[in-house]
Amino acid sequence: MIHPAWLPAEAFRAIGSRRVLVQGSGPLADTVRDEIAQACARFGGVVVQDRKTAELILSIAGPGGEGFRLGRRGDATVISADGPSGLLNGFFEVARRGERAFDAALADERHVPALARRMLDHWDNIDVHPVMGQVERGYSGGSLFWHDGRPCDLGRVRDYARLLAASGVNAVAINNVNVHTTETRLLTDRLTEVAALASTFRVYGIRVHLSVNFAAPVILGDLSTADPADEAVRAWWKSTTARVHEAVPDLGGYLVKADSEGQPGPFTYGRSHADGANMLAEALEPYGGVVHWRAFVYNHRQDWRDRSTDRARAAHDHFAGLDGAFRDNVILQVKHGPMDFQTREPISPVLLGMPSTRLAVELQVTGEYTGQQRHVCYLPPMWSEVLRAVAGHVSGLAAVSNAGDDPFWTGHPLAQANLYAVGRLAWNPARDPIAILDEWIDLTFPGAASELRDILHDLMDESWQTYEQYTAPLGAGFMVRPGHHYGPDVDGYEYTPWGTYHFADRDGVGVDRTVATGTGFTAQYPPAWADRYESLATCPDELLLFFHHVPYGHVLHSGVTVIQHIYDTHFAGAHRVSAMRDRWQEAAGLVDPALHARVTERLDEQQRSADEWRDQINTYFYRKSGVPDAHGRPIH
Ligand code: GCU
Repeated sequence: MIHPAWLPAEAFRAIGSRRVLVQGSGPLADTVRDEIAQACARFGGVVVQDRKTAELILSIAGPGGEGFRLGRRGDATVISADGPSGLLNGFFEVARRGERAFDAALADERHVPALARRMLDHWDNIDVHPVMGQVERGYSGGSLFWHDGRPCDLGRVRDYARLLAASGVNAVAINNVNVHTTETRLLTDRLTEVAALASTFRVYGIRVHLSVNFAAPVILGDLSTADPADEAVRAWWKSTTARVHEAVPDLGGYLVKADSEGQPGPFTYGRSHADGANMLAEALEPYGGVVHWRAFVYNHRQDWRDRSTDRARAAHDHFAGLDGAFRDNVILQVKHGPMDFQTREPISPVLLGMPSTRLAVELQVTGEYTGQQRHVCYLPPMWSEVLRAVAGHVSGLAAVSNAGDDPFWTGHPLAQANLYAVGRLAWNPARDPIAILDEWIDLTFPGAASELRDILHDLMDESWQTYEQYTAPLGAGFMVRPGHHYGPDVDGYEYTPWGTYHFADRDGVGVDRTVATGTGFTAQYPPAWADRYESLATCPDELLLFFHHVPYGHVLHSGVTVIQHIYDTHFAGAHRVSAMRDRWQEAAGLVDPALHARVTERLDEQQRSADEWRDQINTYFYRKSGVPDAHGRPIH
């Protein structure tokens, strides 16, 4: 049995028990009609042809667009959509509201997405990678798209597309940004697989994008170079892209990880990233496609002895100078922080510093560094901070999906809320993340008793902050086991080439990224931000060790010393997990037993892991500093 996530049949009761009229034609109107017919068959409503008797009217009132107007006309609730996608979005808005959508006092509202492209990136491979498994950083089983080297059941893909559409997502990249040999062929002789997936997603208004290998002309054996200045290479991309569009006329475009962590790119040929991206953009331009070009470019083979190289600087150093050099259909896709999806990072300065470039912010729904879907970690409060900070600077959002072939879709059943919320926040970044959680609860647990709602809020509302409390302190980041990145290992990355250091010694900890005495990273920000981070007097506590190297006795704005903060938060965080675990036992009988059991098992692991984090971090810093805990709690 596959869990219905946020679309159980019950979510359509209010629509399905009414007289409903759908006006409009085309594939998306057909999808809405099918949805309504099914809901009516289940709940006793009727599809009508006449406005006069309809209680719900959904119509396409404009030539195109994703927005819609919701309101009351006489005794009917009406969705007037800007176009076919708007019709689908309006339909799901009515489903979300349930009976409330039919309140006689319903006010007129216009809904339009804040971000034009709301994309999920899958890091799925066709083959099972010996180290990474099938889905890179996937914690929810195998791929939804391929099994045993062959395409999967498209029925499950259709259910997934439907879930995504209901959350506001309108684009999906189907394969890993690290494009291995088999997956490189999706561009050519495996195109039928892309086409089948695209047809399935299309019915729900979602366009498929493809991750491509920059060296594809060479890997596929056609050419001896992938140099973007070479005419034969440019012609290869044009003709290949033309064939792709014969199979998938509405392909969204390409996603590229170039010159990053061993992937090929334009640097091999002495060309810039604008040269590389623009070549692909030119090939896609006739079809209205876009290139998502990732800014995740840094030296992953640096010498840890070299204190002048700072990985945090890399994206801005590589890309800021190229502002204005990209074609209109290139979107620079930038990780939200300057490092790599840590629990707490400042905003990437690239997102604030390229006004003449189209930008998309990249988030990670799959919790590589946030508990890997074994821990409860509701991430929207973090994303909400990010999206508010970059408002007006970005036009798109791309998020690495956390879904797989697991019966609960996301491994941890409560991690479904992250997948749901990322689409909702991309649609409207101003939404309160806790209100989105309520919406998810309403849909997923229809008729949830207030008791269950309270339990879920107790577990989830502050789970990101709880996770932060028992893991790396004050923005230091990493401190995880190298490779798989689960569990504590304070010095795991300290003497490696990866550029992720904390520099703890007997006197203090943190990375000096100031202009005055450090790597100068703070200067990459606009002045107000730079000043705030540069000065110890204004740098926020939660990012202190990201920007500064301070003694253990440094007093935080909160009034406690750094070392005491480390002890206090680690004891508190692990303690909160044990309270969450106890609280969840009160949900027995309020939710499906299989879901209850799965969450229970994960909370047991979260407790074990949080205790381990607490003890390793506290012990490490006690041994380094020699400073005892002011409260005399056990440290080893
Ligand atoms: C992280 C992650 C990799 C991934 C990379 C990326 O470093 O650990 O698995 O490939 O990000 O975003 O490209």
